[in-house]
Amino acid sequence: MTNQVTVIEHPLIQHKLTLMRKAETSTKKFRNLLKEISLLLAYEVTRDIPLKYEEIQTPLATMNAPVLAPDKKLVLVSVMRAGQGILDGMLELLPSARVGHIGLYRDPKTLIPVEYYFKVPHDVEQREMIVVDPMLATGNTAIASVERLKSTNPLSIKFVCLLAAPEGVKHFCEAHPDVPLYTTAIDEYLDEYGYIIPGMGDAGDRLFGTK
Ligand code: URA
Repeated sequence: MTNQVTVIEHPLIQHKLTLMRKAETSTKKFRNLLKEISLLLAYEVTRDIPLKYEEIQTPLATMNAPVLAPDKKLVLVSVMRAGQGILDGMLELLPSARVGHIGLYRDPKTLIPVEYYFKVPHDVEQREMIVVDPMLATGNTAIASVERLKSTNPLSIKFVCLLAAPEGVKHFCEAHPDVPLYTTAIDEYLDEYGYIIPGMGDAGDRLFGTK
């Protein structure tokens, strides 16, 4: 199976993304924008979750009405720490979803990810998994996260980021051809420090105001 790579080009998302990219955008605004975009991302990424029909009573009649199928539950997994920003927005739309966290940091010299935290719900095998991390740069962190998460046997995995570098997309798709990838833009290239250009800088620092 080969990846579907979906670039979500909705005008509201693209406008908010531009505001996030601007160097002068404050931490408060950046955080709010990420939350708003993430809500819209959650909408896109859940397009294919199955429905079942149940009989309900409206004030005027009975009808067979669609509801989410109870056996297709979700788990959102945040790749710490910047994944938290997407997680917060998605949870507004998916308040019943369970949440997992994976903590990997990029060794600044080798850019290779090292795991420092891992926790997912016990029933992850009965859940569809959506992994979130704003920046798909080299792809190393995303690849390592998904590799680790696959070992927990969720029903399926999707990977959602905000921005991607072409190098990261290629690398990720080669490593995990079975995992659909969602992003709002694929930028030009990665610089020698592993930053996406033009990008938006360090998403974690901008989200938490740590720089
Ligand atoms: N991580 C970030 O936060 N920004 C980049 O440009 C690349 C990786």
